[in-house]
Amino acid sequence: MAIKKVGVLGCGLMGSGIAQVSATAGYEVVVLEQEQRFLDKGFAGIDKSLAKFAEKGTLKEPVADVRGRLKGATDRAALADCDIIIEAIIENVEEKKKMFSALDGIVKKDAIFSSNTSSISITEVAAATKRPDKFVGLHFFNPVPLMKLVEVVRTIATSEAAFEATFEFGKSLGKVPVRTSDKTGFIVNRLLVPYLLDAIRAYEEGVGSVPDIDNSMKLGCGYPMGPFTLLDFVGLDTTYYISQVMFEEFKERRFASPALLKRMVMAGWFGRKSGKGFYDYTDANNPVPTKF
Ligand code: CAA
Ligand code: NAD
Repeated sequence: MAIKKVGVLGCGLMGSGIAQVSATAGYEVVVLEQEQRFLDKGFAGIDKSLAKFAEKGTLKEPVADVRGRLKGATDRAALADCDIIIEAIIENVEEKKKMFSALDGIVKKDAIFSSNTSSISITEVAAATKRPDKFVGLHFFNPVPLMKLVEVVRTIATSEAAFEATFEFGKSLGKVPVRTSDKTGFIVNRLLVPYLLDAIRAYEEGVGSVPDIDNSMKLGCGYPMGPFTLLDFVGLDTTYYISQVMFEEFKERRFASPALLKRMVMAGWFGRKSGKGFYDYTDANNPVPTKF
């Protein structure tokens, strides 16, 4: 089945990026949000990012043409004729199941359903629909417009045709797809999440300050961002939810949420997106380490 129209669920950090790269690649895109204000925030980010690409001359057409293919919606009915749905709402299994179960009766029967989840079982979410054979994991990386990888996740129920169509769709976005199976965290988060959580534990144990640990991994290992900068960038709320799902699956300490992470999330410190995390972003161009 030819994919022409893409439905994206959620216009946060990831949904806005997925919508942007889909429209840039030439697809018609509808993005669903809970309220108009979330769409406005997401589209403002898209505009900023598209402007940077236009400035560098890497867009094949005027920004207005890309934007012309992007529509926002708060009514699920707007997704009825999409050929693929890519979900990027909160990392909560019940919310994802509720959403897909409702969309199953709205979106055309042969459309592919996919989830950008970081850790939740694709099989479990797919089982909330009557089309588990057309359900695939499609895991992008933050920031979506810049990161080249996409993990394409097959469950024991995914059909060959749906998997291959999704894999080709990933390529058509200019991404490099890799094949993986429905094991919690897939490839990247299986390795990345314990590292990020360990950085917090190292800080809790007094191994070093937040900026010193960040600089150590940047200057000592050549990582583009230190672990705390990356934690703030990914979102502390999202990292906390991911650690809960991964700990539930593996029951290993390396996936357990450190006490400080839990407390920061309870305090509403979600990282860059909320203005405060391991750094304070009051001046976004000059973040300063948070005093605990
Ligand atoms: N859109 C368009 N352009 C952008 C942009 C965006 N959203 N963000 C940055 N840029 C541009 C900048 O303007 C800059 O352009 P110039 O070179 O012309 O100045 C260029 O990209 C590089 O940006 P910066 O100079 O600001 O910073 P950088 O060199 O450090 O690169 C980065 C930014 C690519 C994000 C890099 O820091 C990086 O790779 N960080 C690690 C990100 C990462 O690990 N992501 C994975 C997170 S985990 C995940 O996603 C999975 C999960 O489930 C949690
Ligand atoms: P986010 O908090 O930035 O955005 C989530 C958006 O979903 C919000 O704007 C919220 O209003 C919206 N939303 C929530 N419930 C909704 C509903 N029922 N209908 C429509 N919209 C709804 O989160 P994010 O970082 O974009 O993460 C989204 C998903 O992507 C999660 O599953 C996360 O694990 C995954 N992911 C995140 C990253 C990352 O680095 N942040 C990377 C890869 C994958």
